[in-house]
Amino acid sequence: MFAQTISLVAVTESETLPGVSTMAVHGGRQPNPYRAVSEPLVMSAPAVFQSTVDLMAFVQARRQGLTEQVEYGRYGNPTVQEAERRLAALEGAEDALLLASGMAAITTTLLALVPSGGHVILTEGVYRRTRQFVVDFLSRLGVTVTLWDWKTPLEAVFRSETALVLAETPTNPYLRVLDLEVLAQYARERGVLTVVDATFATPVNLRPLALGIDLVVHSATKYLGGHHDLLAGVVAGEKALVQRVREALGVWGGVCAPQTASLLSRGLRTLGLRMAQHNRNGQVVAEFLEAHPVVERVWYPGLPSHPDHEVARRQMKGFGGVVSFTVRGGLEATARFVDALQIPLLAASLGGVESLVTLPALASYYHLSSTERLALGIPDNLVRLSLGVEDTADLLTDLAQALKVG
Ligand SMILES: Cc1ncc(COP(=O)(O)O)c(C=O)c1O
Repeated sequence: MFAQTISLVAVTESETLPGVSTMAVHGGRQPNPYRAVSEPLVMSAPAVFQSTVDLMAFVQARRQGLTEQVEYGRYGNPTVQEAERRLAALEGAEDALLLASGMAAITTTLLALVPSGGHVILTEGVYRRTRQFVVDFLSRLGVTVTLWDWKTPLEAVFRSETALVLAETPTNPYLRVLDLEVLAQYARERGVLTVVDATFATPVNLRPLALGIDLVVHSATKYLGGHHDLLAGVVAGEKALVQRVREALGVWGGVCAPQTASLLSRGLRTLGLRMAQHNRNGQVVAEFLEAHPVVERVWYPGLPSHPDHEVARRQMKGFGGVVSFTVRGGLEATARFVDALQIPLLAASLGGVESLVTLPALASYYHLSSTERLALGIPDNLVRLSLGVEDTADLLTDLAQALKVG
Protein backbone atom coordinates (compact mmCIF):
# COMPACT_ATOMS: atom_id res chain seq x y z
CA MET A 1 0.00 0.00 0.00
CA PHE A 2 1.31 3.42 -1.02
CA ALA A 3 0.91 5.05 2.39
CA GLN A 4 2.69 2.23 4.16
CA THR A 5 5.73 2.40 1.94
CA ILE A 6 6.23 6.12 2.41
CA SER A 7 8.24 5.93 5.60
CA LEU A 8 10.59 3.43 3.93
CA VAL A 9 11.01 5.51 0.79
CA ALA A 10 11.63 8.61 2.89
CA VAL A 11 14.84 7.19 4.31
CA THR A 12 16.59 7.09 0.97
CA GLU A 13 15.74 10.27 -0.87
CA SER A 14 15.11 9.48 -4.50
CA GLU A 15 13.26 10.82 -7.47
CA THR A 16 10.26 8.72 -6.52
CA LEU A 17 9.98 10.46 -3.15
CA PRO A 18 6.43 11.80 -2.77
CA GLY A 19 5.95 15.56 -2.41
CA VAL A 20 6.00 17.20 0.98
CA SER A 21 2.20 17.62 1.18
CA THR A 22 1.65 13.92 0.43
CA MET A 23 4.25 13.11 3.06
CA ALA A 24 2.52 15.43 5.56
CA VAL A 25 -0.77 13.61 5.04
CA HIS A 26 0.43 10.00 4.75
CA GLY A 27 4.05 9.87 5.96
CA GLY A 28 4.67 7.18 8.56
CA ARG A 29 1.12 5.84 8.47
CA GLN A 30 0.78 2.23 9.62
CA PRO A 31 -2.31 -0.01 9.76
CA ASN A 32 -4.13 0.04 13.10
CA PRO A 33 -6.35 -2.64 14.64
CA TYR A 34 -9.48 -0.44 14.33
CA ARG A 35 -9.23 0.18 10.55
CA ALA A 36 -9.38 3.86 11.52
CA VAL A 37 -8.35 6.39 8.86
CA SER A 38 -7.18 8.85 11.53
CA GLU A 39 -4.80 7.13 13.91
CA PRO A 40 -6.29 6.22 17.29
CA LEU A 41 -5.15 8.17 20.35
CA VAL A 42 -3.55 5.71 22.79
CA MET A 43 -3.39 7.24 26.26
CA SER A 44 -2.15 4.28 28.31
CA ALA A 45 1.13 4.87 30.17
CA PRO A 46 2.10 1.17 30.52
CA ALA A 47 1.64 -1.59 27.91
CA VAL A 48 -0.06 -4.80 29.03
CA PHE A 49 1.36 -8.30 28.45
CA GLN A 50 -0.85 -11.38 28.25
CA SER A 51 1.61 -13.64 30.07
CA THR A 52 5.25 -13.94 31.09
CA VAL A 53 5.85 -15.75 27.77
CA ASP A 54 4.43 -12.72 25.97
CA LEU A 55 6.62 -10.42 28.11
CA MET A 56 9.77 -12.49 27.38
CA ALA A 57 9.04 -12.49 23.64
CA PHE A 58 8.70 -8.70 23.80
CA VAL A 59 11.94 -8.23 25.75
CA GLN A 60 13.86 -10.41 23.28
CA ALA A 61 12.35 -8.73 20.23
CA ARG A 62 13.18 -5.31 21.62
CA ARG A 63 16.75 -6.31 22.41
CA GLN A 64 17.22 -7.40 18.82
CA GLY A 65 15.58 -4.21 17.52
CA LEU A 66 12.72 -6.24 16.01
CA THR A 67 9.85 -4.28 17.54
CA GLU A 68 8.89 -0.62 17.92
CA GLN A 69 6.64 -1.52 20.85
CA VAL A 70 7.49 -0.19 24.31
CA GLU A 71 6.47 -1.18 27.78
CA TYR A 72 6.18 2.26 29.39
CA GLY A 73 5.21 5.75 28.26
CA ARG A 74 8.54 7.41 29.04
CA TYR A 75 10.16 5.17 26.43
CA GLY A 76 7.51 5.69 23.77
CA ASN A 77 3.82 5.54 22.96
CA PRO A 78 1.96 4.43 19.78
CA THR A 79 0.45 7.89 19.15
CA VAL A 80 3.78 9.63 19.76
CA GLN A 81 5.52 7.11 17.49
CA GLU A 82 3.01 7.77 14.73
CA ALA A 83 3.82 11.50 14.87
CA GLU A 84 7.54 10.65 14.95
CA ARG A 85 7.29 8.56 11.78
CA ARG A 86 5.43 11.38 10.04
CA LEU A 87 8.07 13.91 11.14
CA ALA A 88 10.92 11.62 10.00
CA ALA A 89 9.24 11.24 6.61
CA LEU A 90 8.92 15.03 6.30
CA GLU A 91 12.57 15.63 7.14
CA GLY A 92 13.85 12.76 4.98
CA ALA A 93 15.31 11.36 8.22
CA GLU A 94 15.89 7.79 9.34
CA ASP A 95 14.30 8.57 12.69
CA ALA A 96 12.66 11.37 14.67
CA LEU A 97 12.05 11.84 18.37
CA LEU A 98 9.20 13.91 19.76
CA LEU A 99 9.65 15.73 23.08
CA ALA A 100 7.64 17.96 25.40
CA SER A 101 8.78 21.29 23.89
CA GLY A 102 11.34 22.81 21.58
CA MET A 103 13.54 23.49 24.59
CA ALA A 104 13.22 19.85 25.72
CA ALA A 105 14.42 18.83 22.24
CA ILE A 106 17.39 21.21 22.36
CA THR A 107 18.46 20.54 25.95
CA THR A 108 18.07 16.75 25.70
CA THR A 109 19.97 16.65 22.39
CA LEU A 110 22.84 18.70 23.79
CA LEU A 111 22.98 16.73 27.04
CA ALA A 112 23.02 13.47 25.12
CA LEU A 113 25.68 14.44 22.59
CA VAL A 114 28.08 16.91 24.21
CA PRO A 115 30.70 15.28 26.47
CA SER A 116 31.76 17.01 29.68
CA GLY A 117 34.65 19.33 28.95
CA GLY A 118 33.59 19.55 25.31
CA HIS A 119 33.34 22.72 23.26
CA VAL A 120 30.12 23.90 21.64
CA ILE A 121 29.75 26.50 18.88
CA LEU A 122 26.48 28.44 18.76
CA THR A 123 25.62 30.71 15.87
CA GLU A 124 24.90 34.30 16.84
CA GLY A 125 21.17 34.89 17.05
CA VAL A 126 20.23 31.44 18.40
CA TYR A 127 17.11 31.44 20.55
CA ARG A 128 18.09 33.14 23.82
CA ARG A 129 17.00 30.20 26.00
CA THR A 130 19.23 27.86 23.96
CA ARG A 131 22.13 30.20 24.60
CA GLN A 132 21.19 30.46 28.28
CA PHE A 133 21.12 26.65 28.58
CA VAL A 134 24.61 26.27 27.15
CA VAL A 135 26.15 29.24 28.98
CA ASP A 136 24.50 28.78 32.40
CA PHE A 137 23.88 25.02 32.62
CA LEU A 138 26.13 23.04 30.26
CA SER A 139 29.04 25.07 31.66
CA ARG A 140 28.50 23.18 34.95
CA LEU A 141 29.70 20.07 33.08
CA GLY A 142 32.83 21.93 32.03
CA VAL A 143 31.43 22.62 28.57
CA THR A 144 32.81 25.75 26.93
CA VAL A 145 31.03 27.78 24.30
CA THR A 146 31.92 30.09 21.42
CA LEU A 147 29.32 32.37 19.85
CA TRP A 148 30.05 32.45 16.15
CA ASP A 149 29.25 35.79 14.54
CA TRP A 150 29.03 34.27 10.99
CA LYS A 151 31.83 36.53 9.74
CA THR A 152 34.82 34.99 11.54
CA PRO A 153 36.35 32.18 9.43
CA LEU A 154 35.43 28.72 10.70
CA GLU A 155 39.15 27.87 11.22
CA ALA A 156 39.22 30.53 13.95
CA VAL A 157 36.15 29.16 15.74
CA PHE A 158 36.65 25.39 15.68
CA ARG A 159 38.94 23.84 18.33
CA SER A 160 40.37 20.36 18.77
CA GLU A 161 37.80 19.72 21.54
CA THR A 162 34.82 21.07 19.56
CA ALA A 163 32.08 18.45 19.87
CA LEU A 164 29.06 20.11 18.29
CA VAL A 165 27.84 23.15 16.38
CA LEU A 166 24.29 24.33 16.96
CA ALA A 167 23.08 26.71 14.27
CA GLU A 168 19.71 28.38 13.86
CA THR A 169 18.41 29.39 10.47
CA PRO A 170 16.51 31.58 9.71
CA THR A 171 17.13 33.48 12.95
CA ASN A 172 14.86 35.58 15.09
CA PRO A 173 14.12 38.48 14.55
CA TYR A 174 16.28 39.34 11.52
CA LEU A 175 15.77 36.09 9.57
CA ARG A 176 19.49 35.60 8.90
CA VAL A 177 20.05 32.51 6.73
CA LEU A 178 23.20 30.46 7.14
CA ASP A 179 24.91 28.55 4.33
CA LEU A 180 24.43 25.08 5.79
CA GLU A 181 26.36 23.22 3.09
CA VAL A 182 29.59 25.06 3.91
CA LEU A 183 29.16 24.48 7.65
CA ALA A 184 28.17 20.82 7.26
CA GLN A 185 31.18 20.01 5.09
CA TYR A 186 33.67 21.80 7.33
CA ALA A 187 32.33 20.14 10.49
CA ARG A 188 32.02 16.67 8.93
CA GLU A 189 35.67 16.70 7.83
CA ARG A 190 36.60 17.29 11.48
CA GLY A 191 34.18 14.78 12.99
CA VAL A 192 32.14 17.54 14.64
CA LEU A 193 28.37 17.07 14.93
CA THR A 194 26.05 19.66 13.44
CA VAL A 195 22.57 20.42 14.75
CA VAL A 196 20.27 22.95 13.08
CA ASP A 197 17.26 24.58 14.69
CA ALA A 198 15.07 25.06 11.61
CA THR A 199 11.92 26.13 13.48
CA PHE A 200 11.41 29.23 11.29
CA ALA A 201 11.84 27.24 8.07
CA THR A 202 9.97 23.92 8.49
CA PRO A 203 10.80 20.91 6.28
CA VAL A 204 8.64 22.47 3.56
CA ASN A 205 11.08 25.36 3.10
CA LEU A 206 14.39 23.84 4.19
CA ARG A 207 15.78 20.29 4.49
CA PRO A 208 19.00 20.62 6.55
CA LEU A 209 19.71 16.86 6.49
CA ALA A 210 19.83 16.85 2.68
CA LEU A 211 22.51 19.57 2.96
CA GLY A 212 24.72 17.36 5.12
CA ILE A 213 23.63 18.47 8.61
CA ASP A 214 23.52 15.65 11.20
CA LEU A 215 20.41 16.56 13.17
CA VAL A 216 17.53 18.97 12.74
CA VAL A 217 15.51 20.27 15.68
CA HIS A 218 12.28 22.24 15.76
CA SER A 219 10.04 23.92 18.21
CA ALA A 220 6.98 22.04 16.92
CA THR A 221 5.00 24.59 18.93
CA LYS A 222 5.35 26.88 15.91
CA TYR A 223 4.66 25.91 12.25
CA LEU A 224 4.63 22.12 12.70
CA GLY A 225 1.72 22.22 15.17
CA GLY A 226 0.54 25.35 13.41
CA HIS A 227 -2.49 26.29 15.53
CA HIS A 228 -1.01 27.89 18.67
CA ASP A 229 -2.54 25.11 20.77
CA LEU A 230 0.35 22.85 21.74
CA LEU A 231 3.95 22.78 22.96
CA ALA A 232 6.26 20.15 21.47
CA GLY A 233 9.76 19.69 20.08
CA VAL A 234 11.38 17.30 17.64
CA VAL A 235 14.86 16.11 16.77
CA ALA A 236 15.40 14.14 13.55
CA GLY A 237 18.32 12.56 11.72
CA GLU A 238 20.34 9.37 11.48
CA LYS A 239 18.88 6.53 13.56
CA ALA A 240 21.97 5.93 15.70
CA LEU A 241 22.22 9.62 16.69
CA VAL A 242 18.51 9.98 17.42
CA GLN A 243 18.74 6.78 19.48
CA ARG A 244 21.35 8.41 21.74
CA VAL A 245 18.93 11.29 22.36
CA ARG A 246 16.04 8.84 22.82
CA GLU A 247 17.97 7.00 25.52
CA ALA A 248 18.77 10.29 27.27
CA LEU A 249 15.08 11.23 27.09
CA GLY A 250 14.17 7.96 28.81
CA VAL A 251 16.23 9.23 31.77
CA TRP A 252 15.61 13.00 31.59
CA GLY A 253 11.90 12.45 31.05
CA GLY A 254 10.75 15.46 29.02
CA VAL A 255 8.42 13.35 26.88
CA CYS A 256 5.58 14.51 24.65
CA ALA A 257 2.10 13.58 25.88
CA PRO A 258 0.01 11.36 23.53
CA GLN A 259 -2.77 13.98 23.38
CA THR A 260 -0.23 16.56 22.19
CA ALA A 261 1.23 14.12 19.65
CA SER A 262 -2.25 13.50 18.27
CA LEU A 263 -2.90 17.26 17.93
CA LEU A 264 0.49 17.65 16.28
CA SER A 265 -0.22 14.88 13.77
CA ARG A 266 -3.49 16.56 12.93
CA GLY A 267 -1.74 19.90 12.42
CA LEU A 268 1.01 18.29 10.33
CA ARG A 269 -1.49 16.96 7.79
CA THR A 270 -2.04 20.51 6.48
CA LEU A 271 1.58 21.65 6.77
CA GLY A 272 2.08 21.87 2.99
CA LEU A 273 -1.10 23.89 2.49
CA ARG A 274 -0.42 26.16 5.42
CA MET A 275 3.18 26.85 4.44
CA ALA A 276 2.13 27.81 0.90
CA GLN A 277 -0.09 30.53 2.38
CA HIS A 278 2.45 31.59 5.06
CA ASN A 279 5.09 31.93 2.33
CA ARG A 280 2.74 33.90 0.09
CA ASN A 281 1.64 36.23 2.89
CA GLY A 282 5.27 36.70 4.03
CA GLN A 283 6.51 37.67 0.58
CA VAL A 284 3.61 39.96 -0.37
CA VAL A 285 3.53 41.73 3.01
CA ALA A 286 7.34 42.17 3.03
CA GLU A 287 7.21 43.79 -0.43
CA PHE A 288 4.29 46.01 0.63
CA LEU A 289 6.08 47.15 3.80
CA GLU A 290 9.34 47.82 1.99
CA ALA A 291 7.54 50.19 -0.38
CA HIS A 292 5.65 51.99 2.41
CA PRO A 293 6.90 55.49 3.37
CA VAL A 294 6.21 54.99 7.11
CA VAL A 295 8.38 51.87 7.21
CA GLU A 296 12.11 52.38 7.77
CA ARG A 297 13.55 48.93 7.00
CA VAL A 298 12.28 45.40 6.37
CA TRP A 299 14.02 42.06 7.00
CA TYR A 300 12.67 39.12 4.99
CA PRO A 301 14.88 36.57 3.20
CA GLY A 302 12.66 36.70 0.12
CA LEU A 303 13.57 40.37 -0.46
CA PRO A 304 16.65 41.13 -2.59
CA SER A 305 17.56 43.75 0.06
CA HIS A 306 18.02 41.05 2.74
CA PRO A 307 21.72 40.34 3.44
CA ASP A 308 21.21 36.57 2.96
CA HIS A 309 18.82 36.66 0.01
CA GLU A 310 21.18 34.74 -2.28
CA VAL A 311 21.85 31.92 0.22
CA ALA A 312 18.14 31.75 1.03
CA ARG A 313 17.20 31.47 -2.65
CA ARG A 314 19.70 28.68 -3.16
CA GLN A 315 18.87 26.75 -0.03
CA MET A 316 15.20 27.36 0.71
CA LYS A 317 11.98 26.60 -1.15
CA GLY A 318 10.07 29.45 0.49
CA PHE A 319 10.87 32.08 3.09
CA GLY A 320 8.14 31.63 5.69
CA GLY A 321 5.63 33.92 7.33
CA VAL A 322 7.82 35.97 9.66
CA VAL A 323 8.64 39.54 8.62
CA SER A 324 10.52 41.99 10.85
CA PHE A 325 10.56 45.74 10.25
CA THR A 326 11.14 49.11 11.84
CA VAL A 327 8.58 51.89 11.57
CA ARG A 328 9.47 55.58 11.58
CA GLY A 329 9.20 56.97 15.11
CA GLY A 330 9.95 55.72 18.60
CA LEU A 331 8.40 53.21 20.96
CA GLU A 332 5.13 55.16 21.32
CA ALA A 333 4.46 55.47 17.58
CA THR A 334 5.35 51.80 17.11
CA ALA A 335 3.04 50.79 19.95
CA ARG A 336 0.21 52.91 18.42
CA PHE A 337 0.70 51.09 15.10
CA VAL A 338 0.61 47.69 16.81
CA ASP A 339 -2.49 48.59 18.80
CA ALA A 340 -4.24 49.77 15.62
CA LEU A 341 -3.84 46.37 13.93
CA GLN A 342 -7.15 44.53 13.69
CA ILE A 343 -6.10 41.09 12.44
CA PRO A 344 -2.75 40.13 14.04
CA LEU A 345 -3.04 39.28 17.73
CA LEU A 346 -0.50 40.70 20.16
CA ALA A 347 1.19 37.48 21.32
CA ALA A 348 4.71 36.12 21.64
CA SER A 349 4.76 33.03 19.43
CA LEU A 350 4.83 32.48 15.66
CA GLY A 351 4.01 29.96 12.97
CA GLY A 352 0.30 29.40 13.58
CA VAL A 353 -2.75 30.03 11.42
CA GLU A 354 -3.50 33.29 13.28
CA SER A 355 -1.23 36.23 12.46
CA LEU A 356 0.63 37.39 15.57
CA VAL A 357 2.55 40.58 16.18
CA THR A 358 5.16 41.35 18.80
CA LEU A 359 7.24 44.33 19.77
CA PRO A 360 10.55 42.83 20.94
CA ALA A 361 11.32 45.98 23.01
CA LEU A 362 8.18 45.37 25.09
CA ALA A 363 8.45 41.57 25.21
CA SER A 364 11.73 39.69 25.68
CA TYR A 365 13.84 42.85 26.18
CA TYR A 366 11.54 45.02 28.35
CA HIS A 367 13.79 44.77 31.42
CA LEU A 368 16.56 46.65 29.57
CA SER A 369 16.90 50.37 28.79
CA SER A 370 16.48 51.64 25.22
CA THR A 371 20.25 52.06 24.94
CA GLU A 372 20.94 48.53 26.23
CA ARG A 373 18.38 47.13 23.81
CA LEU A 374 19.93 49.01 20.93
CA ALA A 375 23.36 47.62 21.86
CA LEU A 376 21.81 44.13 21.49
CA GLY A 377 20.45 45.10 18.08
CA ILE A 378 16.85 45.56 19.24
CA PRO A 379 15.62 49.10 18.48
CA ASP A 380 12.41 50.34 20.12
CA ASN A 381 10.67 50.65 16.74
CA LEU A 382 11.23 47.01 15.73
CA VAL A 383 8.11 44.95 14.98
CA ARG A 384 8.00 41.19 14.35
CA LEU A 385 5.02 40.00 12.42
CA SER A 386 4.20 36.30 12.10
CA LEU A 387 1.79 36.14 9.19
CA GLY A 388 -0.89 33.50 9.52
CA VAL A 389 -3.01 32.02 6.75
CA GLU A 390 -5.58 34.82 6.51
CA ASP A 391 -6.38 36.33 3.09
CA THR A 392 -3.42 38.34 1.85
CA ALA A 393 -5.61 41.26 0.76
CA ASP A 394 -7.14 41.59 4.23
CA LEU A 395 -3.70 41.64 5.86
CA LEU A 396 -2.54 44.38 3.48
CA THR A 397 -5.65 46.48 4.14
CA ASP A 398 -5.16 46.10 7.88
CA LEU A 399 -1.47 47.02 7.78
CA ALA A 400 -2.18 50.05 5.59
CA GLN A 401 -4.76 51.47 8.02
CA ALA A 402 -2.58 50.79 11.06
CA LEU A 403 0.46 52.45 9.49
CA LYS A 404 -1.65 55.61 9.03
CA VAL A 405 -2.40 55.63 12.79
CA GLY A 406 1.21 54.93 13.86
C1 LIG B 1 13.91 29.09 17.12
C2 LIG B 1 13.34 28.54 18.37
N1 LIG B 1 13.84 27.40 18.87
C3 LIG B 1 13.36 26.86 20.01
C4 LIG B 1 12.36 27.47 20.73
C5 LIG B 1 11.84 26.84 21.98
O1 LIG B 1 10.66 26.16 21.68
P1 LIG B 1 9.50 25.84 22.75
O2 LIG B 1 8.88 27.15 23.11
O3 LIG B 1 8.61 24.92 22.00
O4 LIG B 1 10.17 25.20 23.91
C6 LIG B 1 11.80 28.66 20.25
C7 LIG B 1 10.71 29.32 21.00
O5 LIG B 1 10.34 30.43 20.76
C8 LIG B 1 12.30 29.20 19.03
O6 LIG B 1 11.81 30.34 18.53
